[in-house]
Amino acid sequence: MSGQQHELTFRFLAQPTDVNFGGKVHGGMAMKWIDQAGYACAVAWSGAYCVTASVSGIQFVAPILIGDLVSVRARLIHTGTSSMHLAVEVLARDLRKDEERLATSCVMVLVALDSPDGKPTPVPHWEPRDDSERRLQAQARQLLELSKGMERLVDMRDGRSD
Ligand SMILES: CC(C)(COP(=O)(O)OP(=O)(O)OC[C@H]1O[C@@H](n2cnc3c(N)ncnc32)[C@H](O)[C@@H]1OP(=O)(O)O)[C@@H](O)C(=O)NCCC(=O)NCCS
Repeated sequence: MSGQQHELTFRFLAQPTDVNFGGKVHGGMAMKWIDQAGYACAVAWSGAYCVTASVSGIQFVAPILIGDLVSVRARLIHTGTSSMHLAVEVLARDLRKDEERLATSCVMVLVALDSPDGKPTPVPHWEPRDDSERRLQAQARQLLELSKGMERLVDMRDGRSD
């Protein structure tokens, strides 16, 4: 049911086919996992088809090795009218050791559409439940303002104005 599930985690093993030239998981593969988990989380919350509007602040903190147990955690940190802002973390664990490390993180904005070729449509409102979620929501709002500022700069550079 839409408006019920605000968080979702994918878990799987990093496979030899995910490897880059240095023998570690390809950055593009981590981005694909992020996109899939973000999409699934946004659809589960909104009950609608969703598209990615932006991905901000992606950080590759630590490498993921083949055979690591990978967890891709996507959770809502803010909703607008049709947009859902998600914090996504990719965590990796060497199954022989009892420690999980943060490999990659970012904030995504997905927008719900009324049909795959349609227009933005409203999503259920999300409210933070504690101080930690309130901080994440404040960060999402700051990132949105930063990204609007960047859009205005690009418009000015390209000679577009409102
Ligand atoms: C995302 C998209 C649907 C927005 O359409 P639009 O006509 O600009 O719609 P609006 O201006 O009404 O904005 C709708 C929402 O998107 C948000 N949005 C639009 N562009 C954004 C951006 N670059 N970053 C963050 N949010 C954005 C707006 O803030 C608004 O949020 P709100 O409803 O919560 O206030 C449209 O730009 C699009 O289809 N982009 C391509 C998406 C795509 O192909 N993604 C990759 C494959 S999934």
